[in-house]
Amino acid sequence: MSERWTPDSWRSKPVQQMPVYPDAKALAEVEAQLATFPPLVFAGEARNLKKALARVCAGEAFLLQGGDCAESFAEHGANNIRDLFRVFLQMAIVLTYAGASPVVKVGRIAGQFAKPRSSDTEKRDGVELPSYRGDIINDIAFTEEARRPDPRRQVEAYRQSAATLNLLRAFAKGGYASVENVHQWMLQSVSGSPQSKAYADLADRVSGALDFMRACGLTFAVDSTLGTTDFYTSHEALLLGYEQAFTRVDSTTGDWYATSGHMLWIGDRTRQLDHAHVEYFRGIKNPIGLKCGPSLKPDELLKLIDVLNPANEPGRLTLITRFGSDKVGDSLPPIVRAVQREGRAVVWSCDPMHGNTITSSSGYKTRPFDRILSEVKSFFTVHAAEGTHAGGVHLEMTGQDVTECIGGARAITDEDLNNRYHTVCDPRLNAEQSIDMAFLIAEQLKQGRVGKASPLPAAAGL
Ligand code: PEP
Ligand code: CO
Repeated sequence: MSERWTPDSWRSKPVQQMPVYPDAKALAEVEAQLATFPPLVFAGEARNLKKALARVCAGEAFLLQGGDCAESFAEHGANNIRDLFRVFLQMAIVLTYAGASPVVKVGRIAGQFAKPRSSDTEKRDGVELPSYRGDIINDIAFTEEARRPDPRRQVEAYRQSAATLNLLRAFAKGGYASVENVHQWMLQSVSGSPQSKAYADLADRVSGALDFMRACGLTFAVDSTLGTTDFYTSHEALLLGYEQAFTRVDSTTGDWYATSGHMLWIGDRTRQLDHAHVEYFRGIKNPIGLKCGPSLKPDELLKLIDVLNPANEPGRLTLITRFGSDKVGDSLPPIVRAVQREGRAVVWSCDPMHGNTITSSSGYKTRPFDRILSEVKSFFTVHAAEGTHAGGVHLEMTGQDVTECIGGARAITDEDLNNRYHTVCDPRLNAEQSIDMAFLIAEQLKQGRVGKASPLPAAAGL
């Protein structure tokens, strides 16, 4: 691993989960074209996110990361982006207040197009075709032509990512995301929720804090930070040819950065120490995530940390644990202890989605809300017991009113899944379930901060 790194050094390593393109020449042409396109994000922004994550690492902030399992070309549009953004900020205001600390907001968005699959092929009625691998690679329709990997899709993924990011930047900086607006949206959501009574207390206290701030003369007109927010993008960097094309030297530092998104992560299926994905990630300076599933052994994790964060830089590495509600209690403590023992600075984040996927009796892939919540609660319990900071959550969620995860305040059942099951990959929390989840996570945060400072300064930092 001490060999020289270049943006293409991953090409000489074994690789998992990457498509085989039938037309190598067409692929090379697309990659060469992408390499001429402007970056989507700047190195300075990635560094700012790393600084914000260093605060999470120090126990001074909380990470909220979430969005679609897979973005889809067909669903790309302003309303979907706006609705996710609104739900996201409502969750953030609840968590900011409850935790009395800033929330670092990172969407699974503007580039989350490539998917690892458990099987290379899919069979339907005796017909076997290549699996769908995300819109950047092939099409979900079950025909031979649709499932053939097509490199031109990478250009479309770039175009959509650029358009999405452009809108997100406008929302985040143009006044739409003001604390006042977010608070009003939150009140509307709470009043329409079957849980409105349970949430009224926290919602009232947020209102009280904002009234107090206003009375003190702290308004958007006085402090422009109240009218804007920092919203970052992230995705699983699975398709390494695409990532390589957007790996650029930062002129300020001379370092290499991935410019396809602010934060990239390595999936649980592609984290082999001597393989291509780890090789690619070790050379980029962005903040990165590593998914940690049940098969990850503590000593293997330590070796990965050596390679991925050799300088032990806080904020560089987020460990996103995703064990499943039944395994987290046994699997998480040994991992946390090993990392603590070796003095490694990491952000601990909980993905309560990917270890809790089941097939419903109606045949849909789903996730029970209770199991998702149970994994989150165990994550907080384990970190409290180990003296580490339960730093964040990583959710698959949408701003739409879909029926993909069962349970929640409206008790979505197996029979309901058929109504609005729209995901192209894994089941997501819908808008209401996401906000419910934020209030329930807020309970955990509140318990953790008993005895800590007043929430007012943090609320201002939303
Ligand atoms: C995902 O985040 O969509 C995913 C595939 O997760 P994991 O790598 O943890 O299985
Ligand atoms: Co997923």
